[in-house]
Amino acid sequence: MNALQRALGYLRRYWLLTLGAALSLVLVSAANLVGPQILRVVIDQGISVGNMQVLVWATLAFIGVAAVRGLFSFTQGFWSEKSSQGVAYDMRNGLFDKIQNLSFSYHDQAQTGQLMTRVTSDVEQVRTFISQGLLQLVNAAVLLVGCLIILFVMNWRLALIVLATIPAMGIVLGIFIATIRPIFGQVQQKLGTLNTVLQENLVGVRVVQAFAREPYEEQRYANTNKELLDVNLKAIYGSANNFPLIFLFSNIGTLAVIWYGGHEVIGGALSLGELVAFNTYLALLIQPIFALGFISAQVARAGISADRVFEVLDARNDIADKPGAKELPQVQGRVAFEDVSFRYIGGDHNVLDHVSFVAEPGQTVAIMGKTGSGKSSIINLIPRFYDVTGGRVTLDGVDVRDVTLDSLRSQIGIVLQDTTLFSGSIRDNIAYGRPDASDAEVEAAAKAAQAHPFISEFPDGYGTVVGERGVGLSGGQRQRIAIARALLLNPRILILDDSTSAVDAETEYQLQQALERLMHGRTAFVIAQRISTVRNADLILLLDNGNIAAQGTHDDLLATSALYGDIIDSQFGGDHPIVALDGEMKM
Ligand SMILES: Nc1ncnc2c1ncn2[C@@H]1O[C@H](COP(=O)(O)OP(=O)(O)OP(=O)(O)O)[C@@H](O)[C@H]1O
Ligand SMILES: [Mg+2]
Repeated sequence: MNALQRALGYLRRYWLLTLGAALSLVLVSAANLVGPQILRVVIDQGISVGNMQVLVWATLAFIGVAAVRGLFSFTQGFWSEKSSQGVAYDMRNGLFDKIQNLSFSYHDQAQTGQLMTRVTSDVEQVRTFISQGLLQLVNAAVLLVGCLIILFVMNWRLALIVLATIPAMGIVLGIFIATIRPIFGQVQQKLGTLNTVLQENLVGVRVVQAFAREPYEEQRYANTNKELLDVNLKAIYGSANNFPLIFLFSNIGTLAVIWYGGHEVIGGALSLGELVAFNTYLALLIQPIFALGFISAQVARAGISADRVFEVLDARNDIADKPGAKELPQVQGRVAFEDVSFRYIGGDHNVLDHVSFVAEPGQTVAIMGKTGSGKSSIINLIPRFYDVTGGRVTLDGVDVRDVTLDSLRSQIGIVLQDTTLFSGSIRDNIAYGRPDASDAEVEAAAKAAQAHPFISEFPDGYGTVVGERGVGLSGGQRQRIAIARALLLNPRILILDDSTSAVDAETEYQLQQALERLMHGRTAFVIAQRISTVRNADLILLLDNGNIAAQGTHDDLLATSALYGDIIDSQFGGDHPIVALDGEMKM
């Protein structure tokens, strides 16, 4: 209920439209209420006494009423629809902004399909309520109160009979809302689950086909789909149950009125016109009551959806600028880990344990270690994708948590382990971090990343459109575009996560030559599997299970670290990446 009120707050920006719709509604309701009065006059003062003039005037009045109703029904529908679209627009944008800014740890735990459902279906549920349900609710209330007042004025005894049936209907509706609400919650939840399965399969369709798991995935989807169907049917069953009961109560009301009112007319206490008008109001009265039955389902549904929308909008972002965070000035590039410990949210052990090292400006730091040893975790702490749980990470001596995220991240070029390209041209993808870059700059970055040769082979060159996940490019080509994208920022700090592992030896060699030039003057972190890549690094961090097993230069480590010696031996004479088998480094 509360969330729904908050959702209604979004109407504030569209108050004029909302007001217009509300006024139109009042006019339509008023026209509806006036109708039976004209009918009463026609019967009692026109038809019964043979007065033609009253008949003519009444006809004209009816036309007027119909015109008012027609015109304002239109404006009411149009304006309320328009304002609700505005609300949905604002809500979707708000959700998107929020989701974009939520931290890595939020997205680690959130299911994409659930988020997508909230941005689409849940927003739509709230919108439907605002465009239809809300006004119907007001309309029902106006009609209900209006009818009751008129009924009382016309004949309070008859009105009391009618009134007696209303509390019973109120109770039915109350019970209905209470029971249907959780069911609608389940509907939205299941829809989210279904979307998650769908989204996973769309992204992973190649893996599914490669492993011939289509039947399994089809079954998984069908099962979830069946669960959605079941809760939907449950909701429909609940709603369908609701109406016959209300119908029953209203029929009892009509029956009582005809019975009692008929007696009064026969006894001369009531005119026929009055009874007809009364009955017409009664029919009018049933409309809002029915509408309430319908709207109550919508209220329940929109309420649950609004809850789900605000759950995302209110999600606490654990990585955000702290109050008064300063801009990080252009850095020299000294990166220091001071006794850093780190644990993922919900994790049961430290992924990094008291890690300390210093990368001086311009140095190249190579991080090595078997799979799962914490290499990616280390570099994720520098741009503050996650916050340390102990110790601190500093840039030029400033704790990364003390500066604004924008100023921090704009100085760090990063190539993540998973390459994501966006649908669009190669040029747009390279210029992603600096859309204003000139074509010459884009080309220079591509050349540095050894991407230029294959890009120029495409007929459309830099204008070549790549699919949403860079389909149409090889893994190595995608990686090189990602490297060009990072280089274009001309960052003081460059981070490459496994960025050379997907290219052939020849390309790797060229890339390395280029990177060596590129890393010059920058502090660079390279997560690499090959000795050839790290040999010239100023500092090699050898990670073992979240601890630094050894650190130093190639020569230092050769002299001091048995583990490092083993790695060298395994690669001696060849240039093979370390293949991780069963989580163990293959020596
Ligand atoms: N988002 C996450 N949430 C929870 N735990 C995580 C997350 N990412 C990684 N881990 C855990 O942290 C540990 C270190 O992971 P990390 O990604 O840093 O390893 P890595 O050295 O980069 O491995 P690889 O060479 O395979 O890329 C692993 O045990 C992993 O299970
Ligand atoms: Mg990794």
